[in-house]
Amino acid sequence: MREITVTHVVVITLAATFILLGLDRAGELRPNRLVYVLPVAKPAAVAAPQHDPDKGKPPPHNDKPEDLPDGKGRDVTFYTCTACHGVALIKAQGLTRELWDSTFDLMLEKHRMPPVPAAERGEILDYLAATFPPRRRGRGDDNPFK
Ligand code: HEC
Repeated sequence: MREITVTHVVVITLAATFILLGLDRAGELRPNRLVYVLPVAKPAAVAAPQHDPDKGKPPPHNDKPEDLPDGKGRDVTFYTCTACHGVALIKAQGLTRELWDSTFDLMLEKHRMPPVPAAERGEILDYLAATFPPRRRGRGDDNPFK
């Protein structure tokens, strides 16, 4: 039998190492420190999340209480109802008190309006029902040349 030389041992060891590394698909045998890893910039410090990210933000319009028709309860309506949208959305509606009441619930439930004390709610609904009642559709209502 031929002698096993140091050269044989070295060649076999190297071959085995490369075969292992080649088969090591999970990379466990190739720790990152053998590879140059580009330093990754740390993300800039993120401001601590606030409880309410919209807090302190001005409302998305420049409406004033005077943009609603005068009437009892106008101001409380304005300040309660224009935190999220302008008066245009309100003025576009003509509803019975009952439907204004459902609209109120919709704002509370779907749009997460903060709770409103019952007395204020009554005042707002009175104002809305009196100021924006259902519009009667009569002859000529759709006529732009009227
Ligand atoms: C917390 C935010 C918020 C508050 C406060 C709020 N709304 Fe709204 N409202 C919304 C959102 C959001 C919409 C949907 C807007 C859109 O479609 O652009 C909406 C839509 C409306 C609409 C249109 C609904 C439709 O069917 O077209 C009316 C009318 C309305 N709101 C009335 C009110 C009234 C009256 C109040 C006060 C009692 C009020 N909103 C308070 C968020 C709010």
